[in-house]
Amino acid sequence: MDEITALAKRRGFIFPSSEIYGGINGAWDYGPVGVELKRNVRQAWWRDVVELRDDVVGVDTAILMSPDVWKASGHLEHFYDMMVDCRTCKKRFRADQIATDRCPSCGNQTLTPPRVFNMMFRTSIGAMEDASSAAYLRPETAQGIFVDFKLVAQTARRKPPFGVAQIGKVFRNEITPGNFIFRSREFEQMELEYFVPPQPESEGLRWFSYWVGERYDWFIRLGVQPERVRRREYSGADLAHYSKATTDIEYDFPFGWGELEGIAHRGSYDLEQHVAGSGKDLAFFDEESKEKYIPAVIEPSLGVDRALLVFLLDAYEREDDRTVLHLHPRLAPYKCAVFPLVRNKPDIVALAQSVERALRPHMRTVLDDSGNVGKRYYRQDEIGTPFGVTVDYESLERQDVTVRDRDTKAQERVSIDRLREYLSEKLA
Ligand code: GAP
Repeated sequence: MDEITALAKRRGFIFPSSEIYGGINGAWDYGPVGVELKRNVRQAWWRDVVELRDDVVGVDTAILMSPDVWKASGHLEHFYDMMVDCRTCKKRFRADQIATDRCPSCGNQTLTPPRVFNMMFRTSIGAMEDASSAAYLRPETAQGIFVDFKLVAQTARRKPPFGVAQIGKVFRNEITPGNFIFRSREFEQMELEYFVPPQPESEGLRWFSYWVGERYDWFIRLGVQPERVRRREYSGADLAHYSKATTDIEYDFPFGWGELEGIAHRGSYDLEQHVAGSGKDLAFFDEESKEKYIPAVIEPSLGVDRALLVFLLDAYEREDDRTVLHLHPRLAPYKCAVFPLVRNKPDIVALAQSVERALRPHMRTVLDDSGNVGKRYYRQDEIGTPFGVTVDYESLERQDVTVRDRDTKAQERVSIDRLREYLSEKLA
């Protein structure tokens, strides 16, 4: 994890937030390369979960919502962790991370009894700060989907089974953020609420299994090594009281197996809570069957940052002479880097520029002319660029370039005319 954290900073993926002021725990900034990777992670999810399907539509709801939402959803009452403080060293811990009555940091037996700590960030709306102005930064994107359920079903003319997807920022006042971007206080979620008729129950369970399979396959399709991903089914007391089934997709992180994505069959709990909380009728009326019901929901919920961390960790390889990120081409920040062999030969620089500009409308490219070619390969390998294209003296005469493959390091001469087609085929 330290190596990935260092590489992420060195190459412009991820920096600690407000570092010049000493940083702030649990918040991270994405740099010029990281922002491209993050966009690609979001885009891959949106493309596969929304765009390529007939049965899913998207929304983008507000971060600030009526506080009544959080009352109805149960977050005001139940969205908490138990925490303990050490009276000696003043460190704070999650109660479930304490194995003995000693402080894990200073070793003294001076821990307070566990206390409830609500993880929602509270703020206030308007000029007056009192109980009536209290508002919360959303701790999940899901509730925006539930409260808009009826409007979305009507305007998109959908009937269950259908899904509503959303990507957006969420905030949780985690007691112990850490493990780089694994557990942050500000992060992004990609959530799908897939609404199904509540009866027959077997259909809901079938959709649940379908989504567990679909979400697992998504990581594998994007290159994650199967031996590092597994499914963990919840049962008995671990299952929320309203949940009919829950499965986590876990990843073998450097600190052990941990949750990557959760898929939950939440029954009709969420919509029923909002019917009770708002007094509004959120039932779905099926014009064909003349049936009226509150749909059940299957929820695959994934953190953008956590997925990105997995893609980075999984792609990372240290070889004898280089460090390389074998990122899937869909995720790679740049698909192709173009290098003029030398910087002081205007014809070569001009040709490299024109090669890069011709590729630019079709794929994310970068022109890299600093340092020698070896250093440039090294740099592009470290940020996972699948192809390096070098323009040299021969290119001027033969109108071709050398294309180097990131993973095999194999090099091939390709004519400039054919370059776009060649790269597009390899990247597909
Ligand atoms: N709506 C359901 C929900 O929010 P969750 O298990 O609390 O469920 C879903 O969160 C996903 O969000 C997790 O599987 C993880 O990928 C991501 N996530 C949760 N807490 C996080 C944190 N503090 N930092 C980064 N990602 C987090």
